[in-house]
Amino acid sequence: MSDESRPARPSRTAAVIPAAGRGVRLGPGAPKALRALSGTPMLIHAVRAMANSRAVSLVVVVAPPDGAAEVKNLLDDHALPDRTDFLVVPGGDTRQQSVRLGLEALPEDITTVLVHDAARPLVPVDTVDAVIEAVRDGAPAVVPALPLADTVKEVEPQPSGEPEPVVATPDRARLRAVQTPQGFDRDTLVRAHEAIAVDGEGATDDAGMVERLGVPVVIVQGHEEAFKVTRPLDLVLAEAVLARRRASDGF
Ligand code: CTP
Ligand code: MG
Repeated sequence: MSDESRPARPSRTAAVIPAAGRGVRLGPGAPKALRALSGTPMLIHAVRAMANSRAVSLVVVVAPPDGAAEVKNLLDDHALPDRTDFLVVPGGDTRQQSVRLGLEALPEDITTVLVHDAARPLVPVDTVDAVIEAVRDGAPAVVPALPLADTVKEVEPQPSGEPEPVVATPDRARLRAVQTPQGFDRDTLVRAHEAIAVDGEGATDDAGMVERLGVPVVIVQGHEEAFKVTRPLDLVLAEAVLARRRASDGF
C-alpha cells in the first residue's frame, strides 16, 4: 500500500455511557444505573452491550458524581471482554454535562464515538454495529429509531391536572422515537457540545445538538429491546426480556 492510500488516522471507536442520573421517575432507591436487573446492575448490562461489539475498543462510563469509586469496583468485579478498555469519570448535573465530561476523557486516537444511555441496558449488538457501520460509511451523526405506536399530540402544557389544549397532531407516519447508541464522527460531536448551550435540563438527545449545527443526521432502524428503563413498569419488561433470552439460550 502506498502512503497516499493509507487512512490518515486509524479509526478507533469508543462508547460513552452517561450513567450519572438519579432515576427519579423510577422511584426511590439507588441511582438508576446501579439498580439490578436479574441480579446484575443495569450499568453492567449496558457496558456489556457496547463491549459485545468488536468495533468498540474503549468504554467510558460517566458515573454518579459521588459514585465513581463504586462504579470502578463494579467494573472490576464483573467479567468483561479483554479486548475492551474501560474508563470511569464522574458525571454532572444534566445528561448533557455528563456526556461532555465523558467526551473530555477520550484519548486522541478515537475517531468514532457512540453515546449510549446506561438506562438502555438491553440493546442488541446488531443495532450497535449498524450505527457504527453507518458512521464509518461517512454519516457524521447516526441515530437508531423506531416508528411510534401511539399518535402524538402537541399541547399547551398546563399546571398539574388541568385539561391541556391541543395545538397540533403531527402525521405519525413521519415521526420516529429515537434510541441510543447514537453514533458520531468525534469532531462533529465535540463541536456540538462546545457550541450548543441548553438551559434548564440540558439536551436529552446528542443528535439534536448536531442538528442545530446544521450537520445532517440520519436514522437507522432501532430495536424494541433498546427501550429506555424509565418507570417501574419498564423494569418488569426488562426482566421479561432477560428471561426470554435465558430461555432461548437454553435450547
Ligand atoms: N444521565 C447522566 N447524568 C445526568 C442525568 C442523566 O449521565 N445528570 C444519564 C442517566 O444515567 C441515563 C441517561 O442519562 O443513563 C438517560 O437519562 P434518563 O433516562 O432521564 O435517566 P435519569 O435522569 O437517571 O432518570 P430521571 O430523569 O427519571 O431522573
Ligand atoms: Mg433524566
